[in-house]
Amino acid sequence: MEIKISDKIKYVGVNDKTLDLFESQYIIPNGVSYNSYIIKDEKTTIMDTVDKRAVTEWIKNVEKELGETKPEYLVVSHLEPDHSAGIETITEKYPDMKIVLSKRAADMLPQFFEKDLSSRYVIVGEGESLELGEHKLTFVMAPMVHWPEVMFSYESTEKVLFSADGFGKFGALDTDEDWDCEARRYYFNIVGKYGAQVQLILKKAATLDIKTICPLHGPILKENLEHYINKYDIWSSYRPEDKGILIAYNSIHGNTAKAVEKMKQLLEENNAEKVVVSDLARDDMAEVIEDAFRYDRIIIASPTYDAGLFPTTEKFLRHLKHKNYQNRKVGIIENGSWAPMAAKYIKEILNEMKNITIVEPIVTIKTSMKAENVEEMKKLAKEITK
Ligand code: FEO
Repeated sequence: MEIKISDKIKYVGVNDKTLDLFESQYIIPNGVSYNSYIIKDEKTTIMDTVDKRAVTEWIKNVEKELGETKPEYLVVSHLEPDHSAGIETITEKYPDMKIVLSKRAADMLPQFFEKDLSSRYVIVGEGESLELGEHKLTFVMAPMVHWPEVMFSYESTEKVLFSADGFGKFGALDTDEDWDCEARRYYFNIVGKYGAQVQLILKKAATLDIKTICPLHGPILKENLEHYINKYDIWSSYRPEDKGILIAYNSIHGNTAKAVEKMKQLLEENNAEKVVVSDLARDDMAEVIEDAFRYDRIIIASPTYDAGLFPTTEKFLRHLKHKNYQNRKVGIIENGSWAPMAAKYIKEILNEMKNITIVEPIVTIKTSMKAENVEEMKKLAKEITK
């Protein structure tokens, strides 16, 4: 499958459809791509390498594009191994090729490789440029999007932004699927903690005339760029994207699940715009995290366990805290057969987050839902849909 960018900018990345878990934690039903590009010019330049699983195929792609041409530069946007694993192989293959990277990347690169490559570094800073001939790269530092050494590169002749992990998405490039859904799951789980840093890079990007975005994962973006940039602005400012209520629950023997079913019905009777239900023990946690950020409200329903929180409820809340969850309304339904404690611990973790409003009443069920619980749930449904 040929990925077309332009006559002079070529795609040499690789699809990976056999990796079990991305970053050893995220399921990727449609795989992932490790993107790499070549700018053909007087000083031909390779933009990033790939994961070690893909180096052999990537080298073949590079050889096919370059033929006898010797590249002048390798630009390293990001040192995470899914993009840097090919550095040793490619620098051996082209011993005169220089490595263009940020100061922070130059400091970190020796951690990743045995060989000392420092004599080949061209260290670049914010706003500095590199003339390639017809093309010109200008470097834009993007610390913590998603590591501290990250930089974007802007090619001003063809108006292409090389955006490192920014605007990346799960899914191999031959996958036909909605960009928003898998880019959102990628964003919140991988970059979500660093909203402030993403906001900074969006401000810098707003000063550039961009026609194409070339990320390190997922499709090359050529049309309707405002759509993607607007999504990144919403996500990185922790604003809800849609009105709706996520009910994230655990249920040990089905009693809490039954209450959740009732709660969904009550919310719908109160004209909730959308209600999404997720079983924290069985559904993809990364998808539930994504939905928690997507919607403006959430109800957490959980049993008590060992006088504390049910483990996957705690895991979910800790993930939300790590990813800087904030600015949302939260309802709570707890269950406990003799000493319900879940609400106490849910509130404790929520209190560590910014701008979380707990919606009253908190519903306490003792084993199975009774008429008085339904009355409380009706009040919660009314309050949270106001
Ligand atoms: Fe795709 Fe942060 O590496």
